[in-house]
Amino acid sequence: MAGERFRPLKVAIIGTGYVGLTTGLALAFLGHHVIGMDKDKFKVRMLKAGEVPIYEPGLPEFLSTVWERIRFTDDIKEAVPEAEIVVIAVGTPSKENGRADTQFVEDVTREVASVLLPNHDYTIAVKSTVPVGSNRRVRHIVHKVLEERGIWEKIQVEVVSNPEFLREGKALHDTLYPDRIVVGAESPDGVDAMRKLYQPILEQTFDPPEFLPRPEGYTFPPLITTTPTSAELIKYAANAFLALKISFINEIAGLCEKVGADVVEVARGIGLDPRIGQRFLLAGLGWGGSCFPKDTAALLAMGHEHNHEMLIVAAAREVNLRQRLHAVEKLQEVLKGVRGRVIGILGLAFKPDTDDVREAPSLEIIRTLVERGAHVRAHDPVAIPKARDALADMDVEFVEDPYAVAQGADAIVLVTEWPIYGQLNLKKLAQVMCMPVLLDGRNMFDPTEARKAGFIYIGIGR
Ligand code: UDX
Repeated sequence: MAGERFRPLKVAIIGTGYVGLTTGLALAFLGHHVIGMDKDKFKVRMLKAGEVPIYEPGLPEFLSTVWERIRFTDDIKEAVPEAEIVVIAVGTPSKENGRADTQFVEDVTREVASVLLPNHDYTIAVKSTVPVGSNRRVRHIVHKVLEERGIWEKIQVEVVSNPEFLREGKALHDTLYPDRIVVGAESPDGVDAMRKLYQPILEQTFDPPEFLPRPEGYTFPPLITTTPTSAELIKYAANAFLALKISFINEIAGLCEKVGADVVEVARGIGLDPRIGQRFLLAGLGWGGSCFPKDTAALLAMGHEHNHEMLIVAAAREVNLRQRLHAVEKLQEVLKGVRGRVIGILGLAFKPDTDDVREAPSLEIIRTLVERGAHVRAHDPVAIPKARDALADMDVEFVEDPYAVAQGADAIVLVTEWPIYGQLNLKKLAQVMCMPVLLDGRNMFDPTEARKAGFIYIGIGR
């Protein structure tokens, strides 16, 4: 395979959210011919006009670069029949009981199968995060529809699982320079098709985009081939492990506060052991976003279904929730109650470089503060519109200038570590406050500097 000539493939991507759009643009960048399909007509109209409907650094630049090799449609009949590879990247939202809802995946599978052409070979790659057994279910649906159409014998369809590990805010980087590519397949043909699709990434033969240079020391990513079931579980296990790593350090942070240790020092001290690793050991207000909360809930539900309770994952979720409320309690303690206080919030997105507020710690903290009678004033460089929607039932003031957050406030809470907050003039902030309390929810500031600037500084676990 190595050194084999690259052949551009015809690829249909079903679903143009974070995962689908990033994957589609990256594959077009690598030379494939891509068509992105979404049933959301508004989104498709925007994309056709060259606009990116989500906030993700680099995507707008990419869209204009790969314009010649990518098209968009809301019609499955336009997207699928001529494709060689069909990537399913639709959402799998949480149901009440925590289970991932696979309805969209099943619906699009039916639609895809109903337009496949006889005498063609296809590979269907499931990229959506789906519970174990979903690949089997997709195969079953395809089989059933093709049999009903009387063409089952005439079409070669491989169904593979190809989970995605990209982070919001770093989506293109993670797609072009992944740690590994996982393909779960029942047959060598499925693996082969995916190997061809990802060949330029596996061999790193593409010229890196100017704004996304290849990381120094980056080596070829391994292609991990597994059964579909293992691939499905790899995705959940990876996200759950990362989430519990963060919850672990947050639990240690709580103990640090009780015994007078500094969690930043502890994290460094343990993280240098390569068996533990330094990354994802930043104590703070915990994890949010579209993946960790949903995927840990789905894992609990899966365990429950199989009479195998996921005790550690459940504990990680509990610690995560406690962490957010702990922030409010710290404020209550230092302010002797939050009723009637003005509290400034810096950062609403669940993490920097995204406007996503799904399951963001900011929302829970703001809700609790408002419910307890505080006036909340919040800033975020990009997430205000989404936060405004999420908090529509609450009386929250949003401001466009981070300094305005501090004006007359009794405390400010740094919730999201946007780099611009690191450059704020702390003295200027402290001066305009009623009480200069800074709750640094991400341990972003140097405590000594903050105190020198006039703040009563409270970190997490230090
Ligand atoms: C995550 C996984 O990293 C990614 O591989 C998967 O495909 C999707 O889920 P994402 O949700 O975009 O990606 O964000 P990530 O950067 O992993 O951060 C998740 C949350 O953990 C954020 O709320 C972040 O603030 C928090 N976090 C992260 C910490 O609190 N401490 C850390 O040390 C790292």
